[in-house]
Amino acid sequence: MSEQRKKVTLPTLFDKMAKGVPLTMITCYDYPMATLVEQAGIDIVLVGDSLGMTMLGYESTLPVTMNDMIRHAQAVRRGTPSGWLIGDMPYMSYQASDESAVLNAGRFMAEAACDGIKLEGGAEVCPRVRAIVAAGIPVMGHLGLTPQSVSSLGGFRLQGKSAKQAKKIVDDARALEEAGAMAILLELVPDQVCGLITERAKVPIISLGSGPNAHGQLLIFHDMFGLYPRFTPKMAKQYANAGKLIGDGLKQYVAEVTGKVFPEPERYFGIKDEEFAELKRLVAEEGQ
Ligand code: KIV
Repeated sequence: MSEQRKKVTLPTLFDKMAKGVPLTMITCYDYPMATLVEQAGIDIVLVGDSLGMTMLGYESTLPVTMNDMIRHAQAVRRGTPSGWLIGDMPYMSYQASDESAVLNAGRFMAEAACDGIKLEGGAEVCPRVRAIVAAGIPVMGHLGLTPQSVSSLGGFRLQGKSAKQAKKIVDDARALEEAGAMAILLELVPDQVCGLITERAKVPIISLGSGPNAHGQLLIFHDMFGLYPRFTPKMAKQYANAGKLIGDGLKQYVAEVTGKVFPEPERYFGIKDEEFAELKRLVAEEGQ
């Protein structure tokens, strides 16, 4: 058995940032995935509300509930005991009030042993960030393409293309940091904008489709391994096509069952001839 790695902590992350060692982050949703993530030694593991699309088949992240998130976060924690685990606050779990935000963030910590939470938005969510941080819960901010606001953003597209829009993202990053966010995720913003924010930041900046000039990188498990059939975003790199491998395996299974190839003799078990003869005698006796 491989040796258990040391638990990743906030100081581990800041230490790596200070030394210029890139941080690795992945979005992951269940126990088998999380065990692989643990073995690969990934620093930060996000149980993203994207599970609504990738695991539950919804069209967007909006129908995802706190109970959905907690169930998946618990499974991921069992698979990655040492990763820095972040629970993603689902739609309407923090927007309404500081109180609901703190209570829902607390559920991730108490019920799923998360290390922190993530929420979407800039200056407008800073009161929530302050309240959650004041409750002793680390918060990761999320700027740029924020899927819970995809309707107001006009679709899944690059954010901050004009100087004015980019300035708003730069200002929001500063505001989140001042409110106490321990890290900020930048999703789908131009690489120069990500670089500028990273240069000025005192907390780790993580890039998802925002180029190399950040302290760390994030990819979504299903995009990396061909497991989300609806589409693969251009920003995602596919490291292997597990979806095709599994699909081919399933077709072979169907062919082998219908062709009476499976199960082969080495995959099932019998009883001794004399026991079977006795069984038949007992059954026949009963039928008389
Ligand atoms: O839910 C998620 O996986 C996310 C990523 C897109 C960052 O929030």
